[in-house]
Amino acid sequence: MNPLQNRRILLIDDMPAIHEDFRKILVARPAARELDDVEAVLFGQAVPPPCGGFELDSAYQGPEGLAKVEASIQAGRPYAMAFVDMRMPPGWDGAETIERLWRVDPQMQIVICTAYSDRTWEKVLARLDVQDRLLILKKPFDMIEISQLARTLTAKWEMARQAALQMNSLEEAVEELTATKTALYQSNKELEAFSYSVAHDLRSPLKSIDGFSHLLQKAISGDTADRSMHYLDRIRAGVRQMSELTDGLLSLAQVSHTHLKAEPVDLTAMAEQVLHDCQERDSGRTVQVHVERDLTAIGDPALLRQVMENLLANAWKFTANIATPEIEVGQLHGNNETAVFFVRDNGAGFDMAYADKLFGTFQRLHTSEEFAGTGIGLATSHRIISRHAGRIWAEGAVGQGATFFFTIPPASRQHLPSESCIDSQENRRAP
Ligand SMILES: Nc1ncnc2c1ncn2[C@@H]1O[C@H](COP(=O)(O)OP(=O)(O)OP(=O)(O)O)[C@@H](O)[C@H]1O
Ligand SMILES: [Mg+2]
Repeated sequence: MNPLQNRRILLIDDMPAIHEDFRKILVARPAARELDDVEAVLFGQAVPPPCGGFELDSAYQGPEGLAKVEASIQAGRPYAMAFVDMRMPPGWDGAETIERLWRVDPQMQIVICTAYSDRTWEKVLARLDVQDRLLILKKPFDMIEISQLARTLTAKWEMARQAALQMNSLEEAVEELTATKTALYQSNKELEAFSYSVAHDLRSPLKSIDGFSHLLQKAISGDTADRSMHYLDRIRAGVRQMSELTDGLLSLAQVSHTHLKAEPVDLTAMAEQVLHDCQERDSGRTVQVHVERDLTAIGDPALLRQVMENLLANAWKFTANIATPEIEVGQLHGNNETAVFFVRDNGAGFDMAYADKLFGTFQRLHTSEEFAGTGIGLATSHRIISRHAGRIWAEGAVGQGATFFFTIPPASRQHLPSESCIDSQENRRAP
């Protein structure tokens, strides 16, 4: 059987006799039909050929009909069509009833039945948004008209439903295709920018290894031991730098391959723990810290901890030269549907002109002499937040501190893209 088949019909008419007639023609009741046939033979009345197989519901006033349509929608068993009488005193007339029915079920095909021309049809049609879902049947009508209308309009309802379903699945397929295409495009762009970055940043330590090895060769053949030691130190520094860069690359790659958990995360406790660790590692410093209570999110605890570690390690690091360093962790209190968390400091800050570069791999706005680092922390944080379908961005000013904001949408909106959406621009070196 066709799963879309819908033989449900509603008749709204204040005359009980009409319901009887409709039932005879639309509902297959072999015994009743036999009687009708006998009646036809005896009284010579033409009975239309059996149509049958319809499920007919009766309502005698507009509100009753509306209640039935509402119930049918709630039960997931909508009517394919309704026959509605034009005049049903004392209640709503046919036009008002139809208007209300379509508000509940716009797909329903309707035949309006009338014996009177007490309104011009233009008025009725203008009032209703009829489209192609209304037919007019003048009384007195022939039963064959009813059976044919029922057959044709229920079939029309089924075809419309089939077309809508096909259109839906077509739209879904197109959406999926577009999303895949965008994701592919983004990850390609990122890979391109990433390999550029890797090649660029590994070149410098490699050059220094090469250069100092060469000098060492020369020094060994006759120079003093001090100078050889110095060259060896420089070579080892180059190797260290390379290994930091490759470690950074590895940790960034790991973020994309980790299976994302969705668990409640206490960001307040996390931030306090991370700040406590910073203080322990750097016990000589006094930093004023303030962490807001009850910061919570649903996400991957281990990955969100990495974000907190990166942002707070930066705040700690970039406030190193400030007389009264302050770090604040909190949440914006506005009408945002998704919570916006922030990590703020009053440290070195940065030039907003380069704000979009911050999250690119190995991008640094400060030199290693000013502040140590590889430039991988924010790229990793960006990727983690992107995997949670959130956003991360920064505001700051040179010498006036920086604030990093991030969102973590509800778990239902989180997706699992394996690549983040860093634009290749972000991966180009800041001047
Ligand atoms: N709180 C901050 N204040 C000022 N500048 C910042 C702050 N956080 C990040 N930045 C700027 O963004 C750059 C990138 O930050 P990121 O955390 O990725 O790298 P890093 O801290 O330099 O090195 P890593 O995190 O790999 O040890 C930093 O070098 C710095 O120029
Ligand atoms: Mg960092």
